[in-house]
Parts: sequence; structure tokens; C-alpha cells
Amino acid sequence: MAESSSDLRRRRWWRSTTTRVLAGVATVAATATVLVTAPGADAAASTLGAAAAQSGRYFGTAIAAGRLSNSAYTTIAAREFNMVTPENEMKPDATEPNQNQFNFSAGDQVYNWAVSHGSRVRGHTLAWHGQQPGWMQNMGGSALRSAMINHIQKVMAHYQGKLAYWDVVNEAFNEDGSRRQSNLQGTGNDWIEVAFKTARAADPSVKLCYNDYNIDNWSYGKTQGVYRMVQDFKSRGVPIDCVGLQAHFTGGSSVPGNFQQTISSFAALGVDVALTEVDVTNANTSQYSALTQACMNVARCVGITVWGVRDSDSWRSSESPLLFDGNGNKKAAYNSVLNALNSAGPGPTTTPTTPTTTPTDTTTPTTTPTTPGGGSCTATLSAGQSWGDRYNLNVSVSGSSSWTVTMNVPSPERISSTWNVNATWPSSQVMVGTPNGSGNNFGVTIMTNGNRTWPSVSCSAS
Ligand code: G3I
Repeated sequence: MAESSSDLRRRRWWRSTTTRVLAGVATVAATATVLVTAPGADAAASTLGAAAAQSGRYFGTAIAAGRLSNSAYTTIAAREFNMVTPENEMKPDATEPNQNQFNFSAGDQVYNWAVSHGSRVRGHTLAWHGQQPGWMQNMGGSALRSAMINHIQKVMAHYQGKLAYWDVVNEAFNEDGSRRQSNLQGTGNDWIEVAFKTARAADPSVKLCYNDYNIDNWSYGKTQGVYRMVQDFKSRGVPIDCVGLQAHFTGGSSVPGNFQQTISSFAALGVDVALTEVDVTNANTSQYSALTQACMNVARCVGITVWGVRDSDSWRSSESPLLFDGNGNKKAAYNSVLNALNSAGPGPTTTPTTPTTTPTDTTTPTTTPTTPGGGSCTATLSAGQSWGDRYNLNVSVSGSSSWTVTMNVPSPERISSTWNVNATWPSSQVMVGTPNGSGNNFGVTIMTNGNRTWPSVSCSAS
């Protein structure tokens, strides 16, 4: 069911109130300004990833290992996105080119680039009729079933504990909602649930997704077929945590009017929903805006990934479907997406798939006034939203409107996103921020990597 506008207003009020209460509880030193401003919650962030992070969501892109030597490409990717999907590098033909001989070099290249820039990674994909290595294409029956299980186990073991999501099974349905014929389907109708059970056992820390295209229109046969499978899995306890709507609105398709209903209907089954491979013919601004808004209107729509950085990087480059043109300039659709992200309702409230043993957040803010230019300032931390793998902090600066805040994040934690601040964090452990015109409150997302010690922070006025 689509959410009503009154539901949305209620949730926005709830988020705003919760943020204020958290700020008040966590920071004795905070001023009245902090209590009424709700740092980071309402003002505009200036990058896609930061804007999404304010509501606990991500904004991602597909990254191709072969383009990582292009600095125009990596500059945009590092600045704008906080989730990365390897475009081809974790697919079966890349990771297991010969049976039981694994090659993770390209996948690791993308993974390492992503995490070194504070980004999380979606694994894509483990079991698929497409991009199978030659030896697998010629296989069937019990031999293929065993090979699929072995592939899932070995690839997931390599990335154990490192990924946020895995597309366990990709594109297994026909347009009418029946199962797609493939060598995998030929091993028995239970191949999908075997894949998910194998995946859960191989890495209990990662969320397991089913991913497909043309499942955007709620009344479409394929959408209903996938919905029934997820419903069945949930009712029988087959492990599944998320559904990815590829959302390729290219090649003649466009955003359906009931798109939000599709997202909220899947979410109501108790799974995360993500838009995983978004592109739109000619980057139609209203369609980009509508698809982003539909996701933002559903709390359990956890994030959006566009399928490439610039138009020239797209698998359908002739349709110019992405948010940056071939020269790396932001397109009009970029702004419509950014605006929708900045005005988002609350996102996911929890993410753990297994009981978590992570320590609780440290609640003592660190403030260090200094006086290099005769003035002084104080930076105060307060708690924002928190999830299994990351948490948001609000930073409130007082004493000067011309400040430089330096934040030191203890390893293995990493800075993932910031908003309402001009920030650089070349090492992922040290962030230097100055005002960007949004005022004296800003926000930061920190990946815990198993540790939740708050960073130290200092403020310098000029
Ligand atoms: O790397 C080789 C290169 O050495 C060779 O010279 C060249 C000749 O064709 O091919 C290159 O590989 C290509 C590869 O992309 C890397 O560019 C493959 O031919 C080409 O088939 C492959 O296309 C990928 C496609 O999946 C294949 O299914 C696209 O990049 C990739 O964007 C696309 O991604 C899929 C998702 O995984 C699933 N959903 C649909 C989506 C779009 O098709």
C-alpha cells in the first residue's frame, strides 16, 4: 500500500523530534541552539551520498575496475557515492573462470577502492544465468547444483564480513511471473532457496538479496511472481533479507505510477528494498525525481544505486541515462535527485541480520577550543541515528562562524559521509571541515567496522 501524505508528515515529525531528544540527552555541553536546530536533519547536503546518509540511506553507483585509473571518474565517484556495486567484477565468469579456481583480483580492486573512500559494497552476483564462465554454461543437473553451492561458498568466504549486501540470485523470472528457463532452473525448482540457504551459512553478516529488472510495476506479472516467491520464503523461513529492483528505465520502459506501491508492498513482507541499477532514458528529470521520492517515502527503502557514473560509462550510453554527462558535469536530474534525498522521510531504523555484540555508542562529546586568530570555537558531538554497521553524529559548532573542525576517527572505524560542511577526509580516519554556508551544525556518518568509539574533535576559529 502506498503511504499517505499524513503518514509521511507524522514520520518526519517523529524523526525531527527523535533527533532533538537524542541531541539533548547525549550532550550536556550542547547549547540551546543544538536543541532546536536538529543538526543535519533539515538543511541541504551537497552530495548524493551525504544527502542519503541523513536519513540512514545510501546512494551508490556501479564501478568498473577498468575505469579506476581515470581520475575524472574516480573524483566524481569518491565525492558523490557511499555504496559501490562492482559492475562485472564479482560475477561468476570473473570470480571462477575455471572450475574451483577463483580469481578475486578485479573484485578486490573495486572493493578496496570503495572502502578506502568510506563506501560500502554490494556484492553482485552469485547465481545467475548470465555471465557464467564457459565451464558452467555447459553444465547441468546435480553437477551444476554442486558447482553453484561451491561457488557461493567460496566467493562468500573470500568476502566474509566485508559486504553490506549480496545479490545472491539475479534475474530468475520470466515476464509473466513464471521461472526463467536456464541451466540453474533445470537443476530443480528449489535452486533459489538452496542458493539463499547456502549463502546464509557462508556469511551470516551480509544481507541476502534477490535482484531483478521489470519488477517495478505492481500489477505486472513478473513483479507478482517475485513477490509470491519472497512471501513464500518469508513464510517458510528461507533466509532472504532484501529485494533489489534494478529499475532500468531505459530501452523503452519508464517509472510506473504505482512504483511506490511496489516498493512498500515488498517492504511489508519484512525485507529491505533497494533500487539497484537505476538509469533513465535521457535522464528525464521528473522520472528521476519520482523514483527517488518513491524510495524516500518508504522507510525500508534503504538506498539507490545508479548503474554508472557518467553517461559515457553506461551500458546504454546512447540513451544518456545517468546523472553526470560525459564531461563529468552534473545534469538537471542530479539536482532533482539531490532535492528529493534532502527532503526525505526517515529511513531504516535497524540493519543487523544477526544478533549484534557491538558495544554501545560512546556518549561523551569531546570539545577542544583553540584561539589561533584571537577567536575561539567549540565543536560538540551528539548522537544521530545508529545502525548495525554505522552511526551518524551531529556536530554543533559554537563561538565562531568561521571555523575549522578536525575529527579523528579511531581505526578501524571510517568516515563514510558528511553533510552541511565542506569536508575532506583523505585517510577516512581524519576529517577536516569548514563551513559551506549551511550554518554551524553538520553531520557525519561513520562505519563502525566493529568499533563504536566516538571520534575526538577539535575546533579552530579564524
Ligand atoms: O572486458 C571485455 C573486453 O575485454 C572485450 O574486448 C569486450 C568485447 O565485447 O567485452 C568486454 O566485456 C564486456 C563487459 O561488459 C565489460 O565491459 C562484455 O562484453 C559485456 O557483455 C559486459 O556487459 C555487462 C552486462 O551486464 C553483461 O550482462 C555490462 O557491463 C553490465 O553493465 C551489465 O550489467 C547488468 C547487471 O549485471 C544485471 N542487470 C542488467 C545489467 C545491464 O545489462
